[in-house]
Amino acid sequence: MRNVTIDNVTDVVVGSLGKSGEITDRQREIMTSLITHLHGFIKDVNMTHAEFLGACNFLARAGAICSDKRQEFILLADILGVEVLVDMISNPVAAGESESTVLGPFYRENPPVLPKGASTVQKAFDNQETVYVEGYVRDGNGNPVAGATLDIWEDAPNGLYENHDPDQPDYNLRGRFETDENGHYALVAVRPVPYPIPEDETAGELLHFMGHHPNRPGHLHFIVSGDGFRPLITQIYDADTEWLDNDSVFAVKESLIGKFEKAPEGADTDLVLRFDFTLRRAGEAQMAAE
Ligand code: BEZ
Ligand code: FE
Repeated sequence: MRNVTIDNVTDVVVGSLGKSGEITDRQREIMTSLITHLHGFIKDVNMTHAEFLGACNFLARAGAICSDKRQEFILLADILGVEVLVDMISNPVAAGESESTVLGPFYRENPPVLPKGASTVQKAFDNQETVYVEGYVRDGNGNPVAGATLDIWEDAPNGLYENHDPDQPDYNLRGRFETDENGHYALVAVRPVPYPIPEDETAGELLHFMGHHPNRPGHLHFIVSGDGFRPLITQIYDADTEWLDNDSVFAVKESLIGKFEKAPEGADTDLVLRFDFTLRRAGEAQMAAE
């Protein structure tokens, strides 16, 4: 096609997509929508060439700092509310089921496998408050899910995840637990504190460009998995933490707020948190998504 114009360029590019059989229907759906929205956005803001080069340079710098310790594109997506939107579309919940929320960039696979009731705390901080976290994992009918696994991770009282802090032991405040025959789990952790998402490099530039702060409310991360159930990626938020109504990544849900109560006299921890999870059967989740 010659003589591409502002008015026909979108149709020309969409029309250039591979024929049926060369690309799948899903590829066509994604690319048609992407091209249409991208062109619409560029026309909407009257993008200058200098701005276009600035955006290319920004993305190149974001890619250059990605490593096994830093996934800059997830961070950028989080700041734009993209991860939480994708999560809500991919994981619809029915009444009574636990809500999911963003995974974030700090999960590490294969955390230490710990017995029920064990502590994830490998290093004590002066200002830490220990918490006994316990509850039940159930299916949608209220039946216990025995043998469910719960991966948990959180930041330390200095606001840093262990893999971003050379002064914490490997896998500090991370663990994998299993429910007992009653679907009960228990572990010891520390009260999570609010922290700023990494705001150096391109994530910080984007926050600044948007006039946003980087802070997240204190939260514990969980991935709860059981045979035949959809893995639940979620977080529990401290009811008394700051930033609950102004999370930098828009991931707070009312149903995920838990109360950290003072532990009874003589308990081994300072606080107690009770929180139950209700999992969705894998097949049901697929049907609802369709
Ligand atoms: C987190 O909760 O670990 C997180 C989520 C999104 C962006 C940065 C951190
Ligand atoms: Fe986090």
